[in-house]
Amino acid sequence: MRAHRSTQMVGVVGLGYVGLPLATAFAEAGLDVVGVEADPAKIAALNAQDSYVEDAPAARLAPLLSSGRLKITDDYAVLREAEAIVICLPTPLNEHREPDLSILVSGMESVAKNLQDGVLVILESTTFPGTTREVLLPLLEQTGRRLGRDFYLAFAPERVDPGNRRYTIRNTPRVVGGMTPECTERAERLYGTIAEEVYAVSDPESAEMAKLLENTFRGINIALVNELAILCDRMGIDVWEVIDAASTKPFGFMPFYPGPGLGGHCIPVDPFYLTWRARSFDMATEFIELAARINVSMPYHVVARISSALNAEKKPLNGSRVLVLGVSYKPNVEDTRESPALMILDLLRQSGANVAYHDPLVPELPEAKLSSTELSSFELRRTDCAVIVTDHDAMELSEVIEIVPKVIDLRNAVRRRFGTLPETVEVL
Ligand SMILES: NC(=O)c1ccc[n+]([C@@H]2O[C@H](COP(=O)([O-])OP(=O)(O)OC[C@H]3O[C@@H](n4cnc5c(N)ncnc54)[C@H](O)[C@@H]3O)[C@@H](O)[C@H]2O)c1
Repeated sequence: MRAHRSTQMVGVVGLGYVGLPLATAFAEAGLDVVGVEADPAKIAALNAQDSYVEDAPAARLAPLLSSGRLKITDDYAVLREAEAIVICLPTPLNEHREPDLSILVSGMESVAKNLQDGVLVILESTTFPGTTREVLLPLLEQTGRRLGRDFYLAFAPERVDPGNRRYTIRNTPRVVGGMTPECTERAERLYGTIAEEVYAVSDPESAEMAKLLENTFRGINIALVNELAILCDRMGIDVWEVIDAASTKPFGFMPFYPGPGLGGHCIPVDPFYLTWRARSFDMATEFIELAARINVSMPYHVVARISSALNAEKKPLNGSRVLVLGVSYKPNVEDTRESPALMILDLLRQSGANVAYHDPLVPELPEAKLSSTELSSFELRRTDCAVIVTDHDAMELSEVIEIVPKVIDLRNAVRRRFGTLPETVEVL
């Protein structure tokens, strides 16, 4: 009977930063994988054996695509052949900073239309506790099928850290929470094919909340050091030295580092999913909201720092040439979603600064209507202030600190790379 067959074919819906590496991992583990993606440009890239996600490079994809082990399409009907379907669709915020599940719901409706008996459906997208049970389950039940008899449902949050070579899908433990014990067991078996450790919790809500705890934990701790960085700046204390000193404590402390604000699809977005949900339980998650406020204010602090650094040189921000170094939201990735660099560029422009950026991984920045400028000596000589926003390994800094009269280093990159801090360089 189909319901008792082990998983041979997996469908992955949404082939972005989460879905594409996942589909690749399943295919490399020997499963047949069908990937459903809505963006024609991404389908075309994949069919040309090209990749747009660092964690699933073309060299790994090519043999899987050529052998047919991994197939890509925009047609949800292929999911009729799958024994398990994993949903990796985006869960953004709307303009009121509230959860927008419209993409997820429409994707799930298409999954439901193609649902066959015995299939395990798993949601990986980050979302508020209750989504799997209250939003997805009814959509699947509308097909007339019954949970635990005709289909299985679980939540298994993605924990990918794009660009991280040490922790991958294989060696990052996977949390799963099924709607029933059998749903959980099936999800454990599926993830056991690609992850060394699978950790089961008693229901989807615990798994959904665990993911939000992980991300709000980061957001709150980053906010704490950001606040401390501003205070240290006023007190004339080097916050980086403080963090290094505190980090020598072998227990009860974990280092987080200040920066220009939060970026990416997760840390700036996910806490709002929890805050929104908490409101329906008459609870205001003040801690989380305070952290978000501090993190959101960081680009303003950065621009104030640039302005005062220029002021010390008797230059107004208005009319000065400011070069932003690194515009993706974290080092060594090309993802610019929610990147604080965008806000910094915008605020600088509003103050009349003449802005440019350099990023070896981001040749074009349509959000700011700019292209990456070369770090030529002409460019560096006409720059009044350079700001290191994101420290890519491939970004050359030696000429920058040699030529540019003022460098603001938001990542402590200069000291880490060169072991000293020239007088022209200020850290956050
Ligand atoms: N990026 C991360 O580091 C990360 C980490 C952990 C969790 N997450 C969560 O995983 C989820 C996916 O994030 P992501 O970064 O992979 O997003 P993404 O935007 O990179 O990928 C989503 C993909 O889904 C496709 N898509 C949109 N609508 C579709 C539809 N109706 N049918 C098929 N495909 C469709 C998009 O074209 C895109 O390729 C989010 O909930 C996110 O919060 C992301």
